[in-house]
Amino acid sequence: MAVGGIDVGTGANYEARVTPFVVVACLVAATGGLIFGYDIGISGGVTSMDEFLQKFFPSVYAKEKAPGNYNQYCKFENHLLTLFTSSLYLAALIASFFASVTTRVFGRKISMTTGGLIFLIGAVLNGAAVNVEMLIIGRILLGVGIGYANQSVPVYLSEMAPPKLRGALNIGFQMATTIGIFAANLVNYGTSKMQENGWRVSLALAAAPAVIMTVGAVFLPDTPNSLIERGQKEKAREMLQKIRGTSNVDVEYSDLVAASEASKLVEHPWKQILETKYRPQLVITCLIPFFQQLTGINVIMFYAPVLFKTLGFGDDASLMSAVVTGLVNVLATIVSILVVDKFGRRVLFLEGGIQMIICQIGVGCLIGSVFGVSGDGAFSKGMGNLALAFICIYVAAFAWSWGPLGWLVPSEIFPLEIRSAGQSINVSVNMFFTFVIGQLFLSMLCHMKFGLFFFFAGFVLLMTVFVFFFVPETKNMPIEEMNRVWKAHWFWGKYIPDDAVGLGHHTNNKINHQNA
Ligand code: BGC
Repeated sequence: MAVGGIDVGTGANYEARVTPFVVVACLVAATGGLIFGYDIGISGGVTSMDEFLQKFFPSVYAKEKAPGNYNQYCKFENHLLTLFTSSLYLAALIASFFASVTTRVFGRKISMTTGGLIFLIGAVLNGAAVNVEMLIIGRILLGVGIGYANQSVPVYLSEMAPPKLRGALNIGFQMATTIGIFAANLVNYGTSKMQENGWRVSLALAAAPAVIMTVGAVFLPDTPNSLIERGQKEKAREMLQKIRGTSNVDVEYSDLVAASEASKLVEHPWKQILETKYRPQLVITCLIPFFQQLTGINVIMFYAPVLFKTLGFGDDASLMSAVVTGLVNVLATIVSILVVDKFGRRVLFLEGGIQMIICQIGVGCLIGSVFGVSGDGAFSKGMGNLALAFICIYVAAFAWSWGPLGWLVPSEIFPLEIRSAGQSINVSVNMFFTFVIGQLFLSMLCHMKFGLFFFFAGFVLLMTVFVFFFVPETKNMPIEEMNRVWKAHWFWGKYIPDDAVGLGHHTNNKINHQNA
């Protein structure tokens, strides 16, 4: 394979079986994605419920019901409401920096438990809300919980997993996220039929995934990497033996200790991460979440019901279509679990990118041909179904590429000393652009009209080209030996000092610069 696809071997041959213990631990930890997903899926439905709007956002309700607004593109533009939806992501952004300290100093498990608990309090406040203040404070707490969970869970999974299965086990997080979204879509579909308090039930049910995650986290062991980092070497060795199902863990153990020694020299990870030798990881960890959000996925996740209403679907059909895209999202994630460690990250990124571009252009053309620039028009049933099909194929592509890889790749590329800091950059960039898209989408739709879909297609093209040239393959490479991958890369290699590749010196795998 050319450019980014250099073969660097698979690093150390650690002895590792896939033990039931490690699988269960990863499944439990992955439930951290449930709270993230539930929130993504619930907000759009709740903010389209009349009773909720009347109670908390009467001005929005009045505008929506006002006659005479024929421009379909602008029907739902409202800043107050979008601020409500997207404020959570600002809270998550800030919280992820605090989480990075907790994760490094107290361990991954404590961060996960903290995240679950804070989210739980937020869910209770939201479910009991009698005024807009309770609603907003609750939302901020949900955001803090998500900041903690998203900062710690992907790192936890990547550290626990044996290298050969790291992709699949890490994607458990994204799988849980999509299940959370889908569950929320179903809940909204059910509660929208309630006479009263449907919104309350939708919001309060967020407590369910929070309880699952918090209770699970209490019983989880911490990762060997984190135990060593915090000076508990013996416990770490025992844990490693337990999760790898063998007493012969010497090679991996000494790699972890070497990584931890290197990390001790680093007092200020935030300053350190700016050094030239970490430039490849830093650039990738900023761009991946940025690009992930610029796929436009959250237009569908947040606004599917609104989007389908814009396309002329009835209320019920709109909510049902959101359920359909939610289901496609879950099922397509399974594809990535099955192939990510076999075909690698790059194949998924590239194939998913191309598939998304085609669908976005398709939707843009369809909407453009029916609504034009005036926004006056209506889809026929056939056209509507064709648009829904394009959207489903687009969601499937995201679900096996940028969705899971947006969380997997940043969590596996950093050396231990700056891993926590790196992951909070990933979370905060992700949350910031989730916020921006959440905040701007309805205005963008109003102003850019069908061109919005071409705008996102342009970004997906850009990110696909970026991956082709600049994202190396990381499958199967032990996480503490990742520098080999950077060192062998045609562009990033020059940033990595020769001695930084030494961690895997226990093995004699040759770096193979094929096609470099
Ligand atoms: C993204 C979310 C998105 C979700 C959809 C996640 O990877 O970070 O923003 O809503 O995938 O499944």
